[in-house]
Amino acid sequence: MAEEKNELMEKIESLCKRRGFVFPSSEIYGGMANTWDYGPYGVELRKNIKDRWWKKFVQDREDMVGLDAALIMNPKVWEASGHLKEFKDPLVECKKCHIRYKADELNKKWNKYVCENCGGTDFTSSKNFNLMFKTFVGPTEDVDNIAYLRPETAQGIFVNFKNIIDTTRKKLPFGIGQIGKAFRNEITPGNFIFRTREFEQMEIEYFIPVPKKDKDWEKYFEGWRREMIDWMKDLGIDVKKEIYELNVPKEQLAHYSKKTIDFEYKFPFGQKELYGLAYRTDFDLKSHRLDYSDENGEKFIPHVIEPSLGVDRSVLAALCSAYKEEKTPPQPSPSKGEGATRVVLKLPNWLAPVKVAVFPLLKNKPELVKKAKEIFDNLKTNYACEFDDNGNVGKRYRRQDEIGTPYCVTVDFDSLENDDVTVRDRDSMKQVRVKIKELEDYFRDKLD
Ligand code: GAP
Repeated sequence: MAEEKNELMEKIESLCKRRGFVFPSSEIYGGMANTWDYGPYGVELRKNIKDRWWKKFVQDREDMVGLDAALIMNPKVWEASGHLKEFKDPLVECKKCHIRYKADELNKKWNKYVCENCGGTDFTSSKNFNLMFKTFVGPTEDVDNIAYLRPETAQGIFVNFKNIIDTTRKKLPFGIGQIGKAFRNEITPGNFIFRTREFEQMEIEYFIPVPKKDKDWEKYFEGWRREMIDWMKDLGIDVKKEIYELNVPKEQLAHYSKKTIDFEYKFPFGQKELYGLAYRTDFDLKSHRLDYSDENGEKFIPHVIEPSLGVDRSVLAALCSAYKEEKTPPQPSPSKGEGATRVVLKLPNWLAPVKVAVFPLLKNKPELVKKAKEIFDNLKTNYACEFDDNGNVGKRYRRQDEIGTPYCVTVDFDSLENDDVTVRDRDSMKQVRVKIKELEDYFRDKLD
């Protein structure tokens, strides 16, 4: 499908490239369509997301444990899970320009399907296309050696259910969390890092007792719905304005799901799925012939609630919510003329790749550089810090605003006299003088 683009998305993509968040992959060889590499700030941002998710949902909860399963599993896993048979998208091709579409995403105009690329209205009949990436394990490429890259992290959790019960003696209800890569041979990747063929998931399979009454699972589902909303708020998303909860219609549910809510985010290119929350019933454990024994030795198959979050979509939504363009007062006199426009990423402090940037006012004054370095060395033991002495201070502020750094510290000539520095706040752009010996306390209050 012709990639939907708009001006805001192009600005965000360009900032990501310019400032080192996301690069087109294999760029020196002409790139690789819809494949991206995370640069120095992107990797920090992703790590902050994954670390916070892990702490909030795995480490801080007594009813959760973690796992890191293999990407390539025994192909029997995918047979049992239903993915070999069911994990398919309907594919059609425009007969004129040969662009391929997911049949259910084709645009209909006046009762006719229309190719977004060439306007053609003649398509091949729909063929089911399995989304799993196939590979061969070992040197011979024969049928016996076929294996798949996992299309979801979830199955690694299900097939380890017994190992985890045996080693942790967890009692229901409890959950297993995992962060890791998943691969899907998507028919229509695109919209920057929104839909790619290689991506990362943060998934929880939360095991609950067999619902005695039909609605017993709903309280767990509702609990996780609230947790996901809190998480999105934490990410800096204005949930009321930017999120739409779609109750996925029955005919569109995945083969394992009895109920799914898609949390759709208002991306610049349209309202699309950010995360999913599914009630997978006992489908998976039953498929793998796994069960659970309670204190009385009674055996049964637990049911599952699954909050599933994409790391890359978290990055994109956080960037979209944080991206702001603001008019700044004219310099040097606020009363004269038009101000410039500044671009700023108003990321939550925990998410910002750099928390504090430290500048000497001038790079060719060794006394300023020495003092700034001392402050930097001290602060960097607690926070992700950056030392910058390039260009004038205005340019340095602009750069830090664009990567979302909440605070900048400048060492000037007064610092040498008074042992204090200027601390500038990213959002208000207000500057205050803080004694150097009080800097740690100052940031502890703001950043911890
Ligand atoms: N285990 C359930 C599962 O995989 P899903 O709705 O297919 O459900 C869960 O995927 C999440 O993974 C999505 O909500 C999205 O955040 C992310 N995701 C799925 N496909 C993706 C893709 N091609 N590119 C980037 N993220 C993707």
